[in-house]
Amino acid sequence: MALTLNTNVIVFLFMILGTWASLAMSRTLHEAAMVEKHEQWMVQHGRTYEDQAEKEMRFEIFKQNLEFIENFNKAGNRSYSLSINQFSDLTDEEFLASHTGYKLIHAQSRISTTSFSYENQTEVPSSLNWREQGAVTDVKDQGSCGCCWAFSAVAAMEGITKIKKGTLISLSEQQLLDCSTNGNYGCNGGLMNNAFEYIIDNQGLTSESNYEYQEMQGNCQTQMELVAQIQSYQKVPRNNEEALLQAVAKQPVSIAIDASGIKSYSGGIFDGDCGTNLNHAVTIIGYGSETDGTEFWLIKNSWGETWGEDGYIKMKRNADAAEGLCGLAMDASYPIA
Ligand SMILES: *[C@@H]1O[C@H](CO)[C@@H](O)[C@H](O)[C@H]1NC(C)=O
Ligand SMILES: *[C@@H]1O[C@H](CO)[C@@H](O)[C@H](O)[C@H]1NC(C)=O
Repeated sequence: MALTLNTNVIVFLFMILGTWASLAMSRTLHEAAMVEKHEQWMVQHGRTYEDQAEKEMRFEIFKQNLEFIENFNKAGNRSYSLSINQFSDLTDEEFLASHTGYKLIHAQSRISTTSFSYENQTEVPSSLNWREQGAVTDVKDQGSCGCCWAFSAVAAMEGITKIKKGTLISLSEQQLLDCSTNGNYGCNGGLMNNAFEYIIDNQGLTSESNYEYQEMQGNCQTQMELVAQIQSYQKVPRNNEEALLQAVAKQPVSIAIDASGIKSYSGGIFDGDCGTNLNHAVTIIGYGSETDGTEFWLIKNSWGETWGEDGYIKMKRNADAAEGLCGLAMDASYPIA
């Protein structure tokens, strides 16, 4: 059979070939750009890998994270943005397992209900930032240890200590990590209320400088000077953002959230995606609203200053759910000094 190629067929074949080549070319360029970005990221964050296999495995995760972030930001239709950060070569599962640490199921708090002394608090300013009142220490970094519960409890205690005693002292998470073991599980998770109970029983907590953070659990040191005290703690009525506002108007408040959507958060008002599977503890240190009326909570995290807005996140306030966005109103509490 004689095959005669007329001009149309040739042109058609070249078009297919050309399209295929340019697709392949742009795919190769995209891949090369990704490899380059991963290399730069490794330098920036001082990351090294065991071997080439681990590097390739981490590169694939980094690429997926970066593509997700770029597509999210390109859509440009949300009230917050995402960016590459120090967690960008971890999967969401790995990240949540190593950098959160709020345990509701295994850890049990000894007290189930408390009174709420701010229930008649009617004077609530329209916005508030405890940082501007000097009641918030610098953002800390829990690293690869699931003890967010200690950081959240300490931030709330630092706040009430400043409000009641007039001095802001950075307090020791490590003391809680090492010594608050009744119902808490060190780097494997715990509850702020169990930490408050330890501090009450222990008649105080020492300072960060006396007992520095080690990113791992060690032996409990008992000969430290106790620089701050609390008398008790109270729970904010569950699923009630009005009550939460009454409390935050008087002091920073420890809360638990579902952190599944915030690994790459870099700014703006976070309004999801998340559920109400509480897995992380943070501290509300203020609130406000944007000019368009969007209300937010101002929240201190413990993932360092390079995450989020200098270590903070704004989360939508009075979202369409009784539990609050990401369950933030489900388990809030604060110490009383
Ligand atoms: C934002 O845009 C993306 C892509 O166009 C779309 O899939 C998504 O549903 C949009 N989200 C909202 C909240 O409008
Ligand atoms: C709030 O007001 C009610 C009614 O006056 C009162 O019974 C209650 O004790 C008050 N709560 C607090 C914490 O002061």
